[in-house]
Amino acid sequence: MEEEKMNVPQHIAIILDGNGRWAKAKGMPRNYGHAQGSKNVERICEEAWRMGIKYLTVYAFSTENWNRPKSEVDALMKLLRNYMKTCLKTAEKNDMKIRVIGDMTPLDDDIKNRIHELEEASRNNGGLNFTIALNYGSRDEMVRAMRRMAADCVDGKLKPEEIDEKLYASYLDTAEIPDPDLLIRTSGELRLSNYLLWQLAYSEFYFTDVPWPDFTKEELIKAIEQYNSRDRRFGGIKEEQDV
Ligand code: IPE
Ligand code: IPE
Ligand code: MG
Repeated sequence: MEEEKMNVPQHIAIILDGNGRWAKAKGMPRNYGHAQGSKNVERICEEAWRMGIKYLTVYAFSTENWNRPKSEVDALMKLLRNYMKTCLKTAEKNDMKIRVIGDMTPLDDDIKNRIHELEEASRNNGGLNFTIALNYGSRDEMVRAMRRMAADCVDGKLKPEEIDEKLYASYLDTAEIPDPDLLIRTSGELRLSNYLLWQLAYSEFYFTDVPWPDFTKEELIKAIEQYNSRDRRFGGIKEEQDV
């Protein structure tokens, strides 16, 4: 299918998985896989925008990933530092608007500063809305949202009866971002690993065995083609849409 003619989802969320196994299969250290994986993020951002995708949200580091060996966590943070620098340039070049979701509190100050700089510098950009989930966990995001809501109730800014789905969503890290239409997870695992549990309520899921560093534009097209061949529902019945 010609990509220009392809009907693309507005928002794709990706669980970038399999960097470690990909590297190991090549006799290389896991961190080599992470480095190649981060380069692939750059490539897929460009391809996604070229295809007409407006929002791309990637899972880069979960709240559970702190449980990995210290050497791997350190290497991931180092990679992140460098990535932020590259991203600042790419955002300028491609007009990308960058957002970071997750709990920034435990990150080192220099990383926090770089995130702030990146978000500020790209705030008014009109290209791809690129969101990086960093120290992100959906349960943690919901708990942080609930705490802020509870505090607003105590302060008299909010009444419990005013809380509905729309208001709750406005307290989440993803407040400004529409829900994903399509979720992609690479490298064969069939789980969400605490990713966007609220936001993925009605998204289509696509799982592939391809590890993240090998996930090319062609693989992205395959995922979108499969998405297009599905009959999306939002709780209604087919007949309702036909009449
Ligand atoms: C995904 O690759 C990247 C991160 C979670 C940071 P993994 O590191 O999970 O690679 P595998 O799943 O162990 O192969
Ligand atoms: C999910 O991948 C988190 C990221 C991709 C950042 P993991 O590899 O950490 O997830 P599990 O441990 O297989 O569930
Ligand atoms: Mg993994």
